[in-house]
Amino acid sequence: MKSVTILGIESSCDDTSAAVLRDGILLSNVIANQQIHASFGGVVPELASRAHQQNIIPVVSEALKRAEIDKTELSAIAFTRGPGLLGSLLVGTSFAKGLAQSLEIPLVDVNHLQGHVLAHFISENKPDERKPKFPFLCLLVSGGNSQIIVVEDFDKMQVIGQTIDDAAGEAFDKCAKVMGLPYPGGPHIDKLAKDGNPIKFAFSKPNIKGYNYSFSGLKTSFLYFLRDKLAENPDFISQNLNDLCACLQATVVDILMKKLILAAKELNINEIALAGGVSANSALRQALIDFGQKYKWNIFIPPFAYTTDNAAMIAMAGYFKYLKNDFCKLTEVPFARVTI
Ligand code: KG4
Repeated sequence: MKSVTILGIESSCDDTSAAVLRDGILLSNVIANQQIHASFGGVVPELASRAHQQNIIPVVSEALKRAEIDKTELSAIAFTRGPGLLGSLLVGTSFAKGLAQSLEIPLVDVNHLQGHVLAHFISENKPDERKPKFPFLCLLVSGGNSQIIVVEDFDKMQVIGQTIDDAAGEAFDKCAKVMGLPYPGGPHIDKLAKDGNPIKFAFSKPNIKGYNYSFSGLKTSFLYFLRDKLAENPDFISQNLNDLCACLQATVVDILMKKLILAAKELNINEIALAGGVSANSALRQALIDFGQKYKWNIFIPPFAYTTDNAAMIAMAGYFKYLKNDFCKLTEVPFARVTI
């Protein structure tokens, strides 16, 4: 059988990424991060799309070079169609369309969130690779999403719970900002929390039914707590930074895990996976390991490279669609908002 070689393109937010996958095996995955946003304390959409314009051709060329293939060997181009920032998505979408048309090969549109879930199927051709079995539960946690998804097949996913306000990553980033930490704050909190006491302070936890999440109450409780403490002691944050980070992180992880445990019990599913940027969090990873042992789950934690936005997951998701001849017309447009 002829090999299937997919070029994946990801440009939904502030990372420009391209990856090459051959017969389901990853050959290259190149990511250009945009440092420009750090000084603004968050992603500036206008700057993100301009940086994608600068990065896209060098990133794709590098991905082809590292994969040691010529563009004429490509079978299809998979691109992120949404959700994301529209200006950023337009850069990847237009590039993918132009290249697909010039090479006369199919175009495959990929839902970014499905890409995160399917990152678990990326193969680097290593002997010890494990893949989740269907159906599995995936906790998808990022800067924009906190969802529990029942994954029944590569193309059949159902969101059974999601945040009704802020996402978990947003809670980390906003609380980090209040403490004066750089953007994005999640990784800084993770690092500082390692030397902190996670039970020193208590913050509010939501009390909502079902599998939905809420993080805005925690954010407000954290803000008011600091306001009161700073009124008594202006150095409160610097004197308690590690403990504050450890307690905040423990609260977020507790909120996330409670609903995941509930879903696993009620749906009787014991294949449990993590995905998205926040799945890089060391306490969340450890909690999944600990609860996995307690409840006898088969757990799946993605390698760090595939937790944040990357084109390897887009190429992987595109590969499954390619095998089903599920192609996208050249007249299709990206979507800023779209669910799984
Ligand atoms: O999936 P992702 O790369 O993209 C967006 O959703 O935009 O996720 C980014 C989020 C940010 O909120 C960032 O603070 C968070 O993931 N994040 C972390 C860690 N690494 C990234 N949060 C907590 N601990 C980490 N180690």
